[in-house]
Amino acid sequence: MIVQTIGVVGCGQMGAGIVEVSLLAGYDVIVYGRNEDIRPACQARVRSSLERAVGRGKLAADEAEAALGRLRGVAHLAELAAADLVIECVAEELALKQGIFHSLDSILPPAAILASNTSSLSISQLALATGRPDKVLGMHFFNPVPVMRLLELVRGLHTSDETLAIARKVGAYLGKITITAPDSPGFIVNRLLIPYIVEAIGAYEAGLGEAALVDSAVKLGMGHPLGPLALADLIGLDVTLAIADTLYASSGAPSFKAPPLLRRMVAVGRLGRKSGQGFFEYRR
Ligand code: CAA
Repeated sequence: MIVQTIGVVGCGQMGAGIVEVSLLAGYDVIVYGRNEDIRPACQARVRSSLERAVGRGKLAADEAEAALGRLRGVAHLAELAAADLVIECVAEELALKQGIFHSLDSILPPAAILASNTSSLSISQLALATGRPDKVLGMHFFNPVPVMRLLELVRGLHTSDETLAIARKVGAYLGKITITAPDSPGFIVNRLLIPYIVEAIGAYEAGLGEAALVDSAVKLGMGHPLGPLALADLIGLDVTLAIADTLYASSGAPSFKAPPLLRRMVAVGRLGRKSGQGFFEYRR
C-alpha cells in the first residue's frame, strides 16, 4: 500500500506540527478540526511556521506555497475518506480517541492505517474500537515536531508487520528516525521522561530552588537544551498532567504520580507556554 494522503485529526501544537512535516514531505494532507475556528487557525499556524522557515532561508517561498496548496481543512470526519493513513492527535482521553477510531473505521477504505499520536494510552485498547486492529499503531511524535528527529512507532498486540513497515517508510519520508516501542506504559521516551519531570516539579514544590536555578543546573550540568520545568511548560502542563495520570493509573508506579503543584497549576489555567504562564512567563 502506498500512502499518498495523510489525514490528521486535531490541530493543536502536535497536530499542526504533523501537518507541517507531512506537507513538506510532499503528502496531500486533510486536517479535521471539530469547529469552524480550528481549521483556519490550524492553516494560519502552519502558514506562519512555513513563513518563518522561508524567512530563515531554510525553505523557498514557492515550496511553502506549494505545500500549503496540498492542505485541506475539513469539518466532518467523513471527509477524511480519501486518506491512506490517519494520525489522530486529540486530547489524551481514551473514550474520545476510541470514538474517533470507531467512526474512522467505517469511513476509511479497508486498507487504510489508523495511527494515534497518544503519549500514554494503550494502542491495543484503542485498536479494539475498530474492526481492523492489525492496521492500528502508535505514531508518537515529539514537540516541536518539525525539529525533533524521533518518531516512536508503537506496536499494539494486534499491529501487523505490514502496518509497521508502512509507518516506518512514512516516518523516513517525514525525515524522522523511527524506533519501535512496545505498547507498555509510556512506551520508551515517556517511561523515562515523565518520572523525571514529576520529580523535578515535586522537588521544586518542596523548595529545592527557584525554577530558573533548577533548570540551569540541569542545562549546565547535563547539557540538556531545556531544564525539566521549561520542558513541562513546552509540552503543556495539562498534557503533562494527563500523561502522568494515565501512566500512574495503568502502571501504579509511584514515579508517575503527579505532584499536587502540577494539579493546582492546571486547575487555575497555568498551562505553560500556550497560556503565557507556567513555571516561567512567556510573551504571547
Ligand atoms: N518549528 C520549526 N523550527 C523550530 C521550532 C518550531 N516550532 N522551534 C525551534 N525551531 C528551530 C529553530 O528555527 C532553530 O533552527 P536553526 O538552528 O536551524 O536556525 C532551532 O530549532 C533552534 O531553535 P532556537 O534557537 O529558537 O531555540 P533553542 O536553541 O532553544 O531550541 C528547541 C528550541 C529545539 C525546542 C530546544 O529547546 C529543544 O531541543 N528542546 C527540547 C525539546 C524536547 O525535549 N522535546 C520533547 C518533548 S516530549 C514530547 O514532545 C512527547 C511527549 O509525549 C510529552
